[in-house]
Parts: sequence; C-alpha cells; structure tokens
Amino acid sequence: MSENFNVESVYKMAISSFFETFEKVAEGGLATDAAGKIVWINQKYLEFLGIEEAADVLDKDIKKIIPNSLIPEVLSTGKPILFDAMEYSKGWCVVSRFPIKDQNGQVVGAFGFVLYDSLDELGPIIGKIQSLRNELLFVRGELSKSRRTKYSFHQFAGISAAASKVRREGRMAASKSATVLLHGETGTGKELIAQSIHAASGSLMNFVAVNMASVPESLMEAEFFGAAPGAYTGADRKGRVGKIELANGGTLFLDEVGDMPLSLQAKLLRVLQERELEPLGSNKVIPVDLRIIAATSKDLQAMVKRGDFRSDLYYRLNVFPIEIPPLRQRLEDIPVLSQFLLDEIAHRHGLDILGIDEGAIDYLSKYTWPGNVRELGNILERASLWAKDQKIELVDVVNCMPKEGGQVPSTLAEPGIKLKGKTMAEAVAAVEKTMILDALAQASGKKVAAARLLGVPTSTFYNKLLEYRI
Ligand SMILES: Nc1ncnc2c1ncn2[C@@H]1O[C@H](COP(=O)(O)OP(=O)(O)OP(=O)(O)O)[C@@H](O)[C@H]1O
Ligand SMILES: [Mg+2]
Repeated sequence: MSENFNVESVYKMAISSFFETFEKVAEGGLATDAAGKIVWINQKYLEFLGIEEAADVLDKDIKKIIPNSLIPEVLSTGKPILFDAMEYSKGWCVVSRFPIKDQNGQVVGAFGFVLYDSLDELGPIIGKIQSLRNELLFVRGELSKSRRTKYSFHQFAGISAAASKVRREGRMAASKSATVLLHGETGTGKELIAQSIHAASGSLMNFVAVNMASVPESLMEAEFFGAAPGAYTGADRKGRVGKIELANGGTLFLDEVGDMPLSLQAKLLRVLQERELEPLGSNKVIPVDLRIIAATSKDLQAMVKRGDFRSDLYYRLNVFPIEIPPLRQRLEDIPVLSQFLLDEIAHRHGLDILGIDEGAIDYLSKYTWPGNVRELGNILERASLWAKDQKIELVDVVNCMPKEGGQVPSTLAEPGIKLKGKTMAEAVAAVEKTMILDALAQASGKKVAAARLLGVPTSTFYNKLLEYRI
C-alpha cells in the first residue's frame, strides 16, 4: 500500500468512476430530487423514451414520464433497488436505482440506470428470468384451469321477477369488488351465482371454494390459513398452502358460512381486517387481497342474536346481500327451467333433444320443491331415462317424484277431470287413469304399493297400466 494513500480521495474517485462507468454501459440514466422531479437525464435515455429535448422532462414528476418507475419507492424507503428486471415493448432490461443521501443521511434524491438485454453480460440472467417466468405462467395456467369457474349469469335460468332480480344484483356485485353474502335454501343456485360473479368480474385469478360443512373442524385452520412444514402433528412435511393464499388476488367462496366455528370466525375476521395472513407455525406474513363471496342457507342474523355467529364478521360479510328465493315462490320459472335443465341433461347423456309436455309441467308446478332447482334437475334426469320417446309426459315425472320431503301433488287436484261430453266408458277410463297416476305419484312409482293404495290386485293394476299405456 502506497504511503500517500488517501482514503478520502480514493473514495471520491470510486464514486465518480462508478457513476461514469455505469453511465457509459447503461443505455439510459436519470436522477430526481427528493420530491421525484427529474433533475438530470442523459441523451440515451431521451432517445429511448422518444423525447427530443431534455427540457421536456426536466423538473417534471417522474411518474408522469415513466409511470411504472420505482424511483418514488427508493425515495421513500431510502433503500436501493440494485437489480430489477423489467419487460418493455422491445425486450427485457435490467434497472438499478439508488438513493442519493446528504452528509446527514437524508435522502435528497435518487438516480436510476437502465441496462438493456443487448449487453452480453445480461444474456444469461435474462434467459433465466424468462424461463422462470414461462414456468410460472404455465403453472398458473394449469392451476386456473382446475379452478376456473364454469358458470355465467345466463345459466341462471328463469323468467320470474325474482330470477331477473338475482341476475341483476349478481351483475352489479361483479362490477364491484365488494364482499357478497348469498342467502337461499339448498339447491337454489348459490354456487352458480358465486361462480358467475367471479367470472363476470373478469378476474383471471383463482376461484377457491371451501365448504365449512364438509371440512372437519380440527383441519379447518390449516385448510384456511396454510401451515409451515411440521407446524402441527400430522402436518405435511412440505407444509400446506392454505385456501386463503390460493385465492389471493381472486375469489374465496365460503360455502355454508353459518357452519364456521366461532374460533375460526375470529381468525378469519383478523385476516380480513388486517389484510395479512400468517400461516400456522411460520413467521412469514403474506399480504392478502381477495374478494369474499359467502353463502348460507341459515338465518345468520338469528344466529348472531343467539351468539352462534360473530356479529362483527356478519357485518363484514353482509356488504352486498343477495337473496335467492326458493323455487316454490317462483313457480312461473318451472317451464323455462325444465327446458333449460333438459337441454343440459340431453347434452350430458348424449340424448336427442328432450321436450316436456304441458301436463307434466302443470304437475311439476304444484309440487313444493324442498330441494329447489337441484331437485327439479334430478327428477327430470330420472324422467328422461324413463321416457318412452323424446317427450317427457306426466306419467314419467309422476313415476320419478321423491318418496319423502315435499308434498307430492295429487293428479286428482284441479283442474279436475272433465266428464261432460264423454261416453260412460270414456269417463270411467279417464277416472281410472287419473287415479292410477295419482297412486303411482303417492307411491313414488312403486307399482305394488300403488295397487295396494287403490285396493286392486297387482295383476289388475298391471293390466290397467297396459290398457292405458301408462
Ligand atoms: N336458476 C337456475 N338455472 C339453471 N340451473 C340452476 C338454477 N339454479 C340452480 N341451478 C342448478 O341447480 C344445481 C344446484 O345449484 P347450486 O349448487 O348452485 O345450489 P346451492 O344453492 O349452492 O345449493 P346447496 O346449498 O345445496 O349447496 C346446480 O346444478 C345448478 O346448476
Ligand atoms: Mg352450494
């Protein structure tokens, strides 16, 4: 080491040669003051930006000239961003940004350099970033394929004012990022609407559903929040990514939210309030930004009153409530719904187009539908397999009505059998046929039981079925 080595001067030289070298190899450089106003820009950067005069950008806010610049971040944190890869219209570049500090360590400005991928040294790094990015895109694509929603609002069939209202409210909810609370009996289409809201909001991210009723309470916490490797007995060695993290950026569908245990409600509320997630047994904190859609068939307000559901979580979920009325309150939807469901059934089973006659529709319109649209779908599916031809008739649906649950309507009910103008034989036949159908309906299609209900021998009953082509 030379005797007249002067630390101070070497330091100064190092700084200036560092700056000069950077400016020489970089394809662009600029500096701002503490407020983010551009105070210096070199010719190469101006050319890259397609700006003729430095005067056009000097003293302007950097965000106005380069909207995605991270210099404001460097100014506020005082920390450099040594290496950042950015894709721009013509390729990749590497950007370095440094704070400028005064003697007291105060940030008085920042400077940044852009290195393009034409530089040989950057080739391998850019290549690596590119292949990692492609891998990420592929994995994301695969993930979202399995989590992509399969519904949209036009699949919520129905002509009633109530059905239109549900579609309208769903569309409105989709255009906002608000939390949605869906309420409706089983089978009314809560999941269909939840998926439609996600799809219509244009989100390319995941739709992740968790059904509170089907996850055992002991596993729920890990299922929701994820767990670090070995966080609890029996935990995966590799750890587990929680549903909240999987849904991050997209939608978390809390199905049967009324079944969520109180302890978990408190934890979920904390995540929603703090917008942060800490997986079990880990010390990392993940920022959370997602839309919640909750669904329930229970009366949450009554649960709140009883102390079975946290009121603070209820108010947080009940931002945009959507009520889906039961099918028995919108029976005018049955004809359209039946045709819609039959088209879907025909498609699924590879059958020709199926139709349904008016008598069958009238009959279905008298039922109480405890299982709502799902039950209608099931009955029509069974009836379509029974049907002798492409048109489903009264007898086909009568044979497929459920054994228990709803009040199975009587075919003897209104409008009644018209006897006027019939011969005696025709009138007897009409009465017999109606009674047989009714007995079959009451006996859920079981012939022996129906014969017993009518008090006739089974053989007679079978003969009548043949005679009346039932
Ligand atoms: N308006 C509708 N138009 C067409 N299909 C419907 C309609 N409503 C419901 N469905 C169909 O009925 C079935 C049940 O719907 P979904 O699973 O969304 O109900 P749910 O309210 O979530 O029921 P649960 O509370 O039992 O989970 C689905 O196959 C769905 O496609
Ligand atoms: Mg459901």
